[in-house]
Amino acid sequence: MERTLILVKPDGVQRSLVGTIISKFEGRGLKLIGLKMQQLSKETAEQHYGEHKGKPFYDGLVNFITSGPLVAMAFEGDNCIEICRSTMGATNPVSAGPGTIRGDFAVDIGRNVVHGSDGPETAERELNIFFKPEELVNYEKNADTWVRES
Ligand code: RTP
Ligand code: MG
Repeated sequence: MERTLILVKPDGVQRSLVGTIISKFEGRGLKLIGLKMQQLSKETAEQHYGEHKGKPFYDGLVNFITSGPLVAMAFEGDNCIEICRSTMGATNPVSAGPGTIRGDFAVDIGRNVVHGSDGPETAERELNIFFKPEELVNYEKNADTWVRES
């Protein structure tokens, strides 16, 4: 079963978009299994964005992601990584389609309001940064039979 990490970045929190963004993922029928608010330390931010170390935007990205509280979410379900990425829209909001989170609520690549894991290994690594295993909840969602055929 696939899992993914989603973050409402500090710009999304400051702009009062937390509920709207959670609703976009919930509305598609994805199963929410973890949720918390926190402000990242520089060390945790560097761990999370380690793959981007050395890139021109890295220092700005770490400064931004630590600049205020964020909301971390975990979703579970077949194909949830790709489903979340398509719900988010393109990394650069200039190219993000209308109806996507970034297409509807962002204009700048450095203020793109949401993060989503980009693959199964990344998702496992990132979920471990934000959630202890016992903070991810195992439960049956009765509506699933109305969301997926099998
Ligand atoms: P994310 O990790 O936030 O879900 O976004 P992503 O996979 O679509 O994009 P990624 O390549 O992982 O980049 C992480 C974040 O870094 C910022 N960025 N700025 N100025 C730039 O050229 C640039 N490139 C990336 C974005 O905020 C992006 O979400
Ligand atoms: Mg990424």
